[in-house]
Formats: sequence, C-alpha cells, structure tokens
Amino acid sequence: MEQVIKEKGPENIGGVVMTITNNSAGGQPVSLRNLREVYTVCKKYNIPVNIDAARFAENAMFIKMREPECKEMSIKEIVRACFECGDMLTMSGKKDAIVNMGGIIGVRDGNAPFILKIKANCISYEGFYTYGGLNGRDLESLAVGLYEGIDEDWLRYRIGSIQYIGECLDELGIPYQSPAGGHGIFLDAAKFYPQIPYNEFPGQILSIELYKECGLRTCDIGSFMMGNDPDTGEQIKSMNEFTRLAIPRRVYTQSHYDMVIEGINEVWKRRASIKHGYRITWEPPVLRHFQATLEPIA
Ligand SMILES: Cc1ncc(COP(=O)(O)O)c(C=O)c1O
Repeated sequence: MEQVIKEKGPENIGGVVMTITNNSAGGQPVSLRNLREVYTVCKKYNIPVNIDAARFAENAMFIKMREPECKEMSIKEIVRACFECGDMLTMSGKKDAIVNMGGIIGVRDGNAPFILKIKANCISYEGFYTYGGLNGRDLESLAVGLYEGIDEDWLRYRIGSIQYIGECLDELGIPYQSPAGGHGIFLDAAKFYPQIPYNEFPGQILSIELYKECGLRTCDIGSFMMGNDPDTGEQIKSMNEFTRLAIPRRVYTQSHYDMVIEGINEVWKRRASIKHGYRITWEPPVLRHFQATLEPIA
C-alpha cells in the first residue's frame, strides 16, 4: 500500500493508491495476493482504491514468473485479475503501453460521484475526455501499444535486459537493489558514498557523477526525493538512498547497456574521492526533486 490519501476535500476524493510495480522500491512487483488483500480491506471500510498502472504489464509478468498459482495464466488474465482489485486506474501510457505520449484514466463505476469531476477537469486542462488532448495517431498507437505491451516474449526480453545489467553489476561488485526490478536499475548510493550524510543527498551525487561521466540522466530516489517533514519542516531521512536508472523501452540496445555499465564502473572506481554532497538553494513546495536547485558543498 504505497500511499494513503487522508484528506477528503474538494480537490481530493480520498483513497488508497497501489503503484504497480513499486516505483520507489526498486521497481519491485506487487503480488496479486497483496492487491487482493488491500482491496478486501478497503472494501470493508468503503475506501476507493486507485491503481497507478504505468507498469501494469511488467507487474503481471513478474506475477506469472514468481507466483506459482499464476504460472499457467496468460498475461491478459493476470492483468484482468489485478484490475479487479481497484475502483479506478491512472496510467501513463509512456511506460508499459510503449507510446510517446498519453495515458488513461479508467473508472469501474461510470456513475461514481467523482467521474463528473474527472471529466470536467479533463475538458478544462487536457481536451475532451474521449481523446484527452491527444491526436488520433497517438490514440491509435496507444491502442496498439496496450496489446504489444502485454506480449509475453516482449516482457521476457524486457525484464531479461534489466537482469542483464544487474548481472554485469554483480560481476563488478557494484551495489544495487537486488533482485533487479522491471523498469530499471536502482544503484545503492549509500554504499557508493558511505562517507556522505543523508542530508547531502548521496543519490543526487551519484546522479550528477553519472551525468558528468557519460551524459546518463538518472534521478535520486532517496532523501532528496523524500523532501521535508510537513509538520517539522526537517529533512526526512529516507530508508534507502537510491539512484534510479529507468530504462526506456524500444530505445536501448545491448551496446547502450554496455556503455552505461562502463560509465557506472568509472564512477564506482572514483567513489572515495567524493568528500561532500550538495545543498538545496531553492525548492518548490511539492515534488521538489523535479525542480529544486542545488550547489556543491565546498
Ligand atoms: C509509476 C508511475 N506513475 C506515473 C508516472 C508519471 O508519468 P508521466 O510522466 O507520463 O505523467 C511515472 C513516471 O515515471 C511512474 O513511474
């Protein structure tokens, strides 16, 4: 249960968000059992469940690979079983539907009280709700991508290529969240830089070092992302200090992966030379890791 929205107000319908796969825990899958149990509890207390389904297909493939009772099910059947554990879904199409742009909001109950609001917001901010501001070409790509994205061979290749990066890192002794998840590799920045305290953002240092080394664009999934405690204003100490390499679909080849691994290895070899991290010079009130500015601590 990744996130519980507590406040019910005009901007918020309240509910539980299940993000499949778990984006901030290394892209690890959410089991069908977990989804079912959460949904049962939420039904009992009349709490709506939203599935953040950006990586629904990888999640289904992991369920097939790891849950013995689902071994014989098709990906489509598993996907259906997962979506039975939610009242609505939000989905960025740029991940498992393998398109350049667009997404979907799906609501099980066409008469749900919040659906009018969703439609009104869509019309105001995106475009009429049947196309959400997308052109016909992109909608057609999305329709095709939803099928291509659940092809079992494709999913096996996709998950296998992330595992390949993990195996190369294992050989080099480079620490990451293991076993590798579905959509990327999460390097363990706390192990790269044990000399750096959490409030100098080890995950962000590693991200910057990778960019300097080989132009690789990654992001912190650690204390920098966590932000400040809303009650005390103090920096939150994250349980993990990760640097996420989300691997895009249809773009990278094996030689790209090899180049990335070489770059990571160079940064790993010079890890002891890092003496200080970064301080934030400006941050927005929410989701600061997308916009904040930083400077190196001298
Ligand atoms: C799980 C998940 N949900 C939603 C999003 C947002 O996607 P978009 O940038 O298409 O809005 C992301 C982006 O990485 C994601 O990983």
